[in-house]
Amino acid sequence: MKGVILAGGTGTRLYPLTRLINKHLLPVGNHPMVSYGIERLRQAGITDILMVIGKQSGGLYTQYFGSGEHFGVNLTYRVQESAGGIAEALELAKGFIAPDEKFVVLLGDNLFLDDLTPYVDKFKQQPPGSARVLLKPVKDPRRYGVPVFDPDRPDLISYIEEKPQNPKSNYSVTGIYMYDGAVFGWIQGINRSARGELEITDVNNLYARNGKLEYDVLQLWWGDAGTFESLKEAAEHMKGVLP
Ligand code: G1P
Repeated sequence: MKGVILAGGTGTRLYPLTRLINKHLLPVGNHPMVSYGIERLRQAGITDILMVIGKQSGGLYTQYFGSGEHFGVNLTYRVQESAGGIAEALELAKGFIAPDEKFVVLLGDNLFLDDLTPYVDKFKQQPPGSARVLLKPVKDPRRYGVPVFDPDRPDLISYIEEKPQNPKSNYSVTGIYMYDGAVFGWIQGINRSARGELEITDVNNLYARNGKLEYDVLQLWWGDAGTFESLKEAAEHMKGVLP
């Protein structure tokens, strides 16, 4: 199985630091943020990894991570030219993933303590063309994609509402997604949202409506390090995860 880490986003909520350096390279404890995602994939036996990066700090990525050899992985890089949303960034992985190949996608600013291995193992058992997302209960679901469960099939998500005013559950859909190459076909079928982006939630909803979106709930701490407050919190939780 392969991995894709999306690390191109600009990180406007972390200005002015992100004028200097890409968000995903900001320090979290002793390491650049995206190191933790690489480590989580490696830990789950996923060592063939595509990193989608932005033009900003492009050279720093290769300078720090190089081929990935020192981190126990094999890295390929692709450059995202514009900030067109998560699904647009994901499209850059087409060509890296064979049509029936399964892979794990991580948003580079999502930090978490769970070992992904059991979730990846379950995904391996799923039929071709289906998907799996990981959820986490949160205090303010209005900031995230929020799942609505299928009353007849509690193992499935029937749809996801992106940043709803009145969330129907207290779960966040985290930025940890599992697909196979069929996802690139689904991305073709979505339109830009009101914020001008190709939304990953629209892609996931195509799976959900077809009864093909399974999930697990993360057991340990999870956060997205998109703001100064969450960056500080992440640094505390991730302490000791990497040497
Ligand atoms: C994105 C997704 C959202 C998800 C979140 C997790 O939101 O659109 O569904 O819950 O990542 O970090 P963003 O932070 O890009 O607005």
